[in-house]
Amino acid sequence: MTNNLQFPENFLWGTATSSYQIEGGVKEDGRGESIWDVFSHTPGKTLNGDTGDVACDHYHRWREDVALMKSLGYKAYRFSLAWPRILPQGRGKINQPGLDFYSRLVDALLEAEILPMATLYHWDLPTALEGAWLNRSVVDAFADYTGVITRHLGDRVKNWFTINEPWCASHLSYTIGEHAPGMKDRSKGILAAHHLLLAHGEGVKELRKTVSDARVGIVLNMGPMHNDPDAPVSEDRIRFLDGELNRWFIDPLYGRGYPQDMFEDFLRMGVLNSTEPEFIKPGDMETIAQETDFLGINYYMRQFLSAEPEHVQAQKRADMPKTDMGWEIYPEGLFEILERVHREYHPKQLMVTENGASYADGPDETGRVHDQRRIDYLQTHIEAVWQAIQAGVPVSAYFQWSLMDNFEWARGYSQRFGAIYVDYATQKRTIKDSAYWYSDYINQ
Ligand code: FCB
Repeated sequence: MTNNLQFPENFLWGTATSSYQIEGGVKEDGRGESIWDVFSHTPGKTLNGDTGDVACDHYHRWREDVALMKSLGYKAYRFSLAWPRILPQGRGKINQPGLDFYSRLVDALLEAEILPMATLYHWDLPTALEGAWLNRSVVDAFADYTGVITRHLGDRVKNWFTINEPWCASHLSYTIGEHAPGMKDRSKGILAAHHLLLAHGEGVKELRKTVSDARVGIVLNMGPMHNDPDAPVSEDRIRFLDGELNRWFIDPLYGRGYPQDMFEDFLRMGVLNSTEPEFIKPGDMETIAQETDFLGINYYMRQFLSAEPEHVQAQKRADMPKTDMGWEIYPEGLFEILERVHREYHPKQLMVTENGASYADGPDETGRVHDQRRIDYLQTHIEAVWQAIQAGVPVSAYFQWSLMDNFEWARGYSQRFGAIYVDYATQKRTIKDSAYWYSDYINQ
């Protein structure tokens, strides 16, 4: 197909992964243990007891994976670094082989003319950091970890994301309990969120210190809230749910502090005992609101609100098409969220740091993967990005999630998001039709 839509000259087209989801090699070369190692090995926490022990074996096959990206003509690659590979105890002693792994990867990317864009934290926290995100000392540990990485890679990596999806790393992990470490207590979710946002702020400061020409931002998962006309949820409930998913994170990042209305809800719910909780120390809100160069948005779905959900997670409209994750397909929502964030918060630049679809399609008898549904998903969402740009939103990048099928957290290996099909028994990679389509689309 031809690309009729004109994207800005330097628009970055890429793909994304994260360390725990693809690397495997969890015990290799001195890597320490992460909360996802423990969680995935705890019975009942992941589908079929799947773990990231081997995953896509990218730790050994990274050369092949970079070659595949090059053959598809990707311009940029967003990957994450495994904190316990670099600092097995979370802080202190550096594990040089861990750093060397990422250093080699970065060199290979640059040689393939693929821009490396590194995420510092995509959920694989070292278990050695006691209390995990509930313990404020994790913030300093994160700043130190940031410095270790940037001193080693900052000469070659200039684009950095601090934290991936603080909502998932806090609420999904501490309030809803679906992700590591699997707690179910809203006040813990709020505390973890604060420390994640603080870590972001301290990370930005550290990055600016160590890499003078760094460009840096955070990645938020956001989505618009829509009401079910047949069973409408009250406006007040929508305000609350939007507050918990979207505003709680973006407001403080853009200097507005935490949304006051949410404090009042949390107080009423007995989740906080003050609208000025003592875990917020003087200076914290300034730290969180560090100036950044871009904002990453991960978009998969809108939230279709019906029947007063307790949390927003993947609220969907029953009669709409869904991906294999059960997530509603709603490309217009990507336009809406980009437009809203631009209008209300004015980030200098926006990047779609993740967008993609899980479909099980695998190789047919000829060895081809005909994943037309993924082509449709990508095309309609890319069109939404284009529309946002037409409406004046400064979007500068789009990353498909994901380069290859991988460990989809609590869903284990049951969900295939990849541009490349992975046969987990043999680790054979097969380029799907959608990857050829995307490659043509971005390279004409
Ligand atoms: C996002 C995560 C990513 C992946 C996709 C499907 O929430 O950032 O790791 O699991 O969802």
